[in-house]
Amino acid sequence: MKEQVVKNKEIIILGVESSCDDTSAAIIRDGYLLSNVISSQAVHSAYGGVVPELASRAHQQNIIPTIHEAIRRAGIAKEDISAIAYTRGPGLIGSLLVGTSFAKGFSLALDVPMIEVNHLQGHVLAHFIKEEGEESHIPEFPFLCLLVSGGNSQIILVEAYNKMTILGQTIDDAAGEAFDKCAKLLGGPYPGGPFVDKLAKEGNPDAFTFSKPQIPGYDYSFSGLKTSFMYFLRDELKNNPNFVEERKADLCASIQKTVIEVLMKKLKKAADDYKINRVAVAGGVSANSGLRGAFQDYSKRYGWEIFLPKFSYTTDNAAMIAITALFKYKDGIFDTIDSVPFSKVVI
Ligand code: KG4
Repeated sequence: MKEQVVKNKEIIILGVESSCDDTSAAIIRDGYLLSNVISSQAVHSAYGGVVPELASRAHQQNIIPTIHEAIRRAGIAKEDISAIAYTRGPGLIGSLLVGTSFAKGFSLALDVPMIEVNHLQGHVLAHFIKEEGEESHIPEFPFLCLLVSGGNSQIILVEAYNKMTILGQTIDDAAGEAFDKCAKLLGGPYPGGPFVDKLAKEGNPDAFTFSKPQIPGYDYSFSGLKTSFMYFLRDELKNNPNFVEERKADLCASIQKTVIEVLMKKLKKAADDYKINRVAVAGGVSANSGLRGAFQDYSKRYGWEIFLPKFSYTTDNAAMIAITALFKYKDGIFDTIDSVPFSKVVI
């Protein structure tokens, strides 16, 4: 198989992502994105969160049409594909099984190698995706990456494509979860991050203060913040039943400011301790305008070279899975057919 890899001039990777509630397929040729199709699952919004069983079923329905569309938009034939990459974990096990099983079947059918990808590594390496006609701003090694999503909040030291170390991570809720839960308490939709972000722009970030966690090292904790927000609302609503309606924008701005301050404080500590001034952000919460603003502010204040992902790569997508697989392909790292998905965080 390796001989075949060396002879093959163009490397075309099909990436498949199915770790949570987005079914996605992407084609990358020699590091350039040809297509990135995402089928989101509307079914969960009625439940205020992702329902694992429904997610697996929707992936099963969506996966073949999504792959077909990615291949069609890329303008390639399936026989051109050099390798099939898939998200092996972390994520919802039923959802991961759909992508894993598809990758195994397609790899056998096309007689091409299969490459397993860690979803978190994918978020980080999304910064290396190139697009035809667009200037790329790609980080040099080593750099730090703040990975913030609905399930993870981590500070990662990235020394090479395939060498990453988690310096710190949340010991309970993720930053995205904090946004989602606070938004729910304010009567907002799921996911709540974009709702908080939008309203925060009209509010006063200094209107209310919430206690910040005191956790040693580079780890995070967000469950206490959610609880203090809940008790704060309960007490205020006793005095004024319209409190939430009247102060919604101020509440969003204040909670967003608190989450960002917590995230940036630890990130700055890691940057100082490791003497690294190249800092990236990734994951769903990296779409947050306040967090992006904080990165720009730190760049000016501390001379950081910052890397903010395109909005299309902040959410779960298969382009990041395909680019990660490209680097594994070049290093000759392939998967075996007996590989099984994993649900828990590892890098
Ligand atoms: O990475 P992602 O798409 O999915 C996983 O967690 O795997 O992240 C989703 C999270 C949700 O918690 C959502 O509320 C949050 O990202 N999010 C935001 C924004 N857009 C998405 N949080 C704050 N501000 C945003 N603009």
